[in-house]
Formats: sequence, C-alpha cells, structure tokens
Amino acid sequence: MLVLGIDTSCDDTGVGVVELHPDGSVSVRSNRVWSQTVHANYGGVMPELASREHVERIDAVMGDALAEAGVSVEQLGAVAATSGPGLVGALLVGLMYGKGLSQGLKIPFHATHHLEGHIYAAASEAELQPPYLALVVSGGHTHLFDVRAEGQYELVGATRDDAAGEAFDKVARLSGLGYPGGPAIAEAAKLGDPKAVPFKVPLAGQKGYEFSFSGLKTAALLAHRAGAKPEDLAASFQAVAVKSLVKTSVRAANDLGRNTLVVSGGVAANQALREAFLQTGLRVLFPGKGLNTDNGAMIALAGAAAIRAGRGEHGLGDGATAYAP
Ligand code: KG4
Ligand code: ZN
Repeated sequence: MLVLGIDTSCDDTGVGVVELHPDGSVSVRSNRVWSQTVHANYGGVMPELASREHVERIDAVMGDALAEAGVSVEQLGAVAATSGPGLVGALLVGLMYGKGLSQGLKIPFHATHHLEGHIYAAASEAELQPPYLALVVSGGHTHLFDVRAEGQYELVGATRDDAAGEAFDKVARLSGLGYPGGPAIAEAAKLGDPKAVPFKVPLAGQKGYEFSFSGLKTAALLAHRAGAKPEDLAASFQAVAVKSLVKTSVRAANDLGRNTLVVSGGVAANQALREAFLQTGLRVLFPGKGLNTDNGAMIALAGAAAIRAGRGEHGLGDGATAYAP
C-alpha cells in the first residue's frame, strides 16, 4: 500500500510517499520539501506568510513527490497529514488538502501528531519495535518519550524553557553566525575549541529527566560580550548541549531498562550529537538523510505504522490529543 504524508506545521511544505509492504516493512519512495525563505527579513516565522506560501506551493510539492515515487495519485492507498502541534493556519493547509484528497479518492485519512512523525522518521532506517525511548530534539521541542507499545507515548522529560534547536538558533544569532543556527554552529564549531568557554551542564545532579537551555543562552551572551571568538563559542556551546542531551537520555534509558533509543528532529542532524550518542553503548536509531528536519515522508511513516497496527482511520482530534502529558 502506498501512503502519502503531508506536513505543513511551520515553514516547510513537505510531501512524501511511503510503501507499506505485505510483510509489514516500509520503504520511503519519495520525500520533497519546499523550505520557505520569505521569513528571512523578519527574524522569525511570520504565520500569515507561512500559510499563504503553503497554499501556493502544496500542489507543486505534491506533484514532485508523486513523480519522484513514480506513482499516480490514483495508486495511493491512504493519506496522512499533520494535525498538530504547529501554526494553526499553516497546519490547516496540509490537513484540508489531505482530507480533500482522501475524500476524493475514497481512501482512509490519518491525522498525525507532528512528534509521532519525527519519531517514525527513524523507521526509514531500521525496524522500529517498542519498547524504546525516543528523544525528539527540534526547534520547537526537546521531549523524551517512553514508548512501551505501538502508539503509546509516555512523556518522561522535556525542556523547562527553550528547545535545543531554538538555543542553537539563538546562540548562532547572538554570535553573528546566521540562520538557521544549527548548521551554522556545527560548521563554526569545527574551527573552535570546545573547552574555550567553560559552560556548566544545566540541571546537573537532577533526579528527573528534564532539560534546560535558557541559562546556557544567557551564559553564551555574556561570553560573547566578554570577547569570546564565535568559533570557540560555537564549539563550547555545542559540546555542552550535546553532553546534556546524551547524559539525561542515557540515564533515563538505564533507569527504565530500555536499550533502544531513537534520536530525531532537526537537531538530530548534528554530527557531534550523533557521534556522542553512538558511543553510549545503547542501540541508537536516527532518521535517514533528509528526514531529520520537518518533512512529509515522516508523517507517511507514522501513518503506515498506524495502519499496520490496525489503528484504523483517525479523526481530526486523535493525533492532536494522543500526547497530552
Ligand atoms: O524539526 P525541525 O525542522 O523543525 C521543528 O519542528 O522545530 O528542526 C529545526 C531545528 C532548528 O532549530 C535548526 O537550527 C536545528 O533543527 N538544526 C540543527 C542542525 N540542523 C538543524 N541543530 C544542530 N545541528 C544541526 N546540524
Ligand atoms: Zn518538527
């Protein structure tokens, strides 16, 4: 069965096609993303502009995704679209487009939670079988879930303030490294000394599994004002952010007896983070190429998993409420 996935939760128009094989395995047939650049002059995403651009682009991105997969729209067997969380006007574009398609084609529709999509992005690389722990690290989230069974997510920890990606973006901005900050910090860090700025690991000694990045952001601003080189600031910030994410996740995995850990979301593209997680001794799964940041294929992968598990057709609310902590 071919499953179409759509994500228009923020500033990327993503459409992908995934094939669910009779033996339950899945393969990504296509993944097309249009990343909006209209926000560059505003210092952040302008919701109204994002919605309008999704409306203008979604047909073309859909056409590209079908062409890349080599399928026609009539061959689709199900549609999945992100129902939340995200910018409401932006979400509505993909959601209504997907619902319209499913009704026109008379095929099932699966409203999908954006974070479930990020988690299932790792299913592009390996069979994803619960139980496992999942760390979603993106521009909007730093959430650690215990996944005991398919479709059951227990939030065991999250950030108290900024998301990890948000902190990468802000530190890049204050040190003049540009936007998006994650890739800019990673690039600059290669030329810097990770010990140059003595950042402290946030919440060291805590018993829970929370994260915090706002203190690091302030410390980075002070170091910048005191004359730290952008490369040193980038290397030192990246090192402490990675250490915090790895330490807390590994402690949670050990305490909960999980030996598989999914690390996904935009920040999971970070090479230093990947290397540190691969040294933990846990079985660590990451999304495949192009599936870390927001995209449609990850939503199709989550939809395919729901179909495989017999979760049936979801209504508009199901996906959005599945994670209420
Ligand atoms: O998942 P995503 O596309 O959007 C959200 O749902 O938030 O994540 C975007 C975030 C941005 O904050 C971006 O700076 C960060 O992921 N990011 C990275 C890297 N690539 C993207 N952070 C660290 N290192 C990277 N290589
Ligand atoms: Zn995302």
